[in-house]
Parts: sequence; structure tokens; C-alpha cells
Amino acid sequence: MGSGQISVVKPLDIASRVKAARSKFEQMLGRSAGDAVAYHAPGRVNLIGEHTDYNGGYVLPAAIEYGTVALVAKRDDGVVRVVSTSRELRVEVRVDGIKPDKANDWANYPLGVVHMLRERGAEIGGADLLFDGNIPGGGLSSSASLELATAVAILGIWDEEMDRVELVKLCQKVENEFVGINSGIMDQYAVGMGKEGHALLIDCGVIKHKYVPLRIPGHKIVISNTNKPRELVDSKYNERQAQCQAGLKMLKAVLPDIEYLAHVSVEQFEEHASSITDPTVRKRVKHVVYENARVLDAVKALENSDLSELGRLMIESHNSLRDLYEVTGKELDSLVDEALKVDGVVGSRMTGGGFGGCTVSLVREDCIEEFTRRVSEGYTKTTGLVPEFYITEAAGGAGKVD
Ligand code: GLA
Repeated sequence: MGSGQISVVKPLDIASRVKAARSKFEQMLGRSAGDAVAYHAPGRVNLIGEHTDYNGGYVLPAAIEYGTVALVAKRDDGVVRVVSTSRELRVEVRVDGIKPDKANDWANYPLGVVHMLRERGAEIGGADLLFDGNIPGGGLSSSASLELATAVAILGIWDEEMDRVELVKLCQKVENEFVGINSGIMDQYAVGMGKEGHALLIDCGVIKHKYVPLRIPGHKIVISNTNKPRELVDSKYNERQAQCQAGLKMLKAVLPDIEYLAHVSVEQFEEHASSITDPTVRKRVKHVVYENARVLDAVKALENSDLSELGRLMIESHNSLRDLYEVTGKELDSLVDEALKVDGVVGSRMTGGGFGGCTVSLVREDCIEEFTRRVSEGYTKTTGLVPEFYITEAAGGAGKVD
């Protein structure tokens, strides 16, 4: 990209993406596109409630207008073929011989879903699957989107039904047991259950949700991508999770009834903080406890259309992720710092697992141009990287494309 250009990426409408994917299906799989049925699963952005999901806490994500198109056609020979319009790797395996394999790279997600659905007793045979994703990498749940797109496509083509929340849990299990990342349920839940115009308040302890109208009059959600080259962050994620487990264990000595860390109230934490002897673990726990309380405050702010309160909570959340949970890094911090210098920015914070990926900002509509220009300039100056921006409404969840 030439210097001075600002990259705002618009989501293409799903119908035109399906059309383009159909001709790819013929080219890449040598099969008539007339055999294929189209499904779509969105990505997600988390508004607040970070690293609380695997601690049984609250999160407030929304599905976004970027996602994964899946074209699927049945096969009667028990073979599964998976291809992608953006990746070279293609995989062909027998449906009864699927196992995790590093060499299968991204294809482990769809293959894991097929495998786990069969393990659960779904009567599923072979299939040809083509994926076309436009979710920018890092922090917007492209893997959960791939999982849910596969799940609804495969169940649909083989005429099998499954409760949606069960399907969401199964996709999380793929991530945990097949791919090996101990992630929580937020991503799959938001992708599977998203609703247009709404965020989801998910209680990850009991795995239930409530839709919260995303009333942000005169404002838009702007996602900014650090475009930081992806590094291996899975081990750091798993380390944070282990620290939370350690914190829970120490607190249980004084609060024996606590099942999840996020069930510790702010008052309980302040009273018993000294029971957590390791200072790093204490910081992690403090983040989780306060972040969890912020989610409920953010819902109240949304219900009252109190955008300045919502923005304040988002900024507090980012600061806590930076100072206590230590999952931001100079790229995410710079995007947030630059965003907060611009007029009309209500709030801004990192979104997703962290260490790179994206931020989410609430920006007044007439300030968006100024926002992208100034954030772009400031960020490139600090990091040498060129960011990208996506403007999105809250979208619907995974399903068939009519
Ligand atoms: C990743 C995980 C989620 C959640 C976030 C942090 O996106 O997949 O389950 O833990 O990080 O909030």
C-alpha cells in the first residue's frame, strides 16, 4: 500500500461472496457448483469482558459483518476434502480416519468438527468443503467462525439436527481437545448465537446468554487491526489460564464455596487479596474480578444509552489488560493511545486474546474519517506498521445462506 493511504476494508455482501465461491468450487474441487449448498458464519468482536470466559465470568461480544462462507456438497464414498480460497493447503482424508495432525494446519478446525460430530453420534459421511473467509487475522475469531461454518454446513447437508448451544460447546471442544488451545466459550458462542443489532451478555459459568440491543446512536464500532505479524501466543494464553487456576486454588482456602474465579466479588477480592501469595497471580486475579464487574456495568450503560460511561469502562478494561493481565503490547497500546487522542472517540480497548490482533473503538460517525487518518499516522510512526480498519454493525449468527 502506498504511503498516506488509509486502509478501510468494507465487508462484501454475502451473496456476492457465495457467487464467487461457487466458481472456485468448480475450479478447485472439479465438481459442479450446483451440488453445493452455501452456509455462513460471522466473526466476533468483544466489547468488554476479556479473559473472563474461562473463569466462569461475563463477556459482551457481538457477531460482525465479516465471516466465513462454506460451500458444502455430500460425498457417498466416505472421503472429506477441504479447500480454501485463500490457502494453498488442501486436505483429503477418510471421514473415519480423522485425527489431529500439525501438517493439516488450518484444516484441523473443520476436520476436528467433522470428527467430533461423528463421535457424538451424528450420522455424517463424506463431503467436499470449500471455505472463503474475509475475517482479518488476529482477535476476531476466524477459527471459531471456521468451526461453526463447518458445523452448520455438515449438519445441514447430512440432514442432522443439534441444539445450537450444544453445537457451540462441541466447537469449543474441538479447539480445546483437537487443536489444543484451552480457550473459553465466548468466541464459538458469539459466532453461533449472534443476532443483528445486538450484543450478547454471556454468563460463561452457566453458559447462558441475554441479548442486549446495541444502542449506540450516532456512533459506530470501528475495529483497528495492528497487523502485527502473528506469533505463537497459544502458550502465553495457556499460561494466563494456569495462573488463574492457581489464584482460584489459593482463594479457595479462604472462600471454599467459590467455583469460578469470576464469582469472587470485588469486595471479597479486596478482603482476601493477601491470600494470593504470588504477586503475578494476584494481578491476574484482580483483573478478572474487576473486569467481570465492568461487564455488568457496561450492560447498564448500554441500556441507559450512556455512551460516555460505556467508553470509560472500555478504557479501564484496556488499562487493566495492559497493567494487570499483561496481554497488550506496544502495538495494541499505541492503537488505543492514538484513538483516545481523536475527538468523538467514546472508548477504545484491545479485543480478543491480545498480544496483537485488533482493538475496538466506539467512534462518533462524523469523526470516523479523522479517526482512521490520525490513528493510522500515529500508529505507523510508533510501530512502523500500517494498520487496517473495519467498520461493522452487530450481525447475525451462523446459518444457511438463502
Ligand atoms: C480468545 C479466546 C476466548 C477468550 C479471549 C479473551 O479469543 O478464544 O475464549 O478467552 O481470548 O477474552
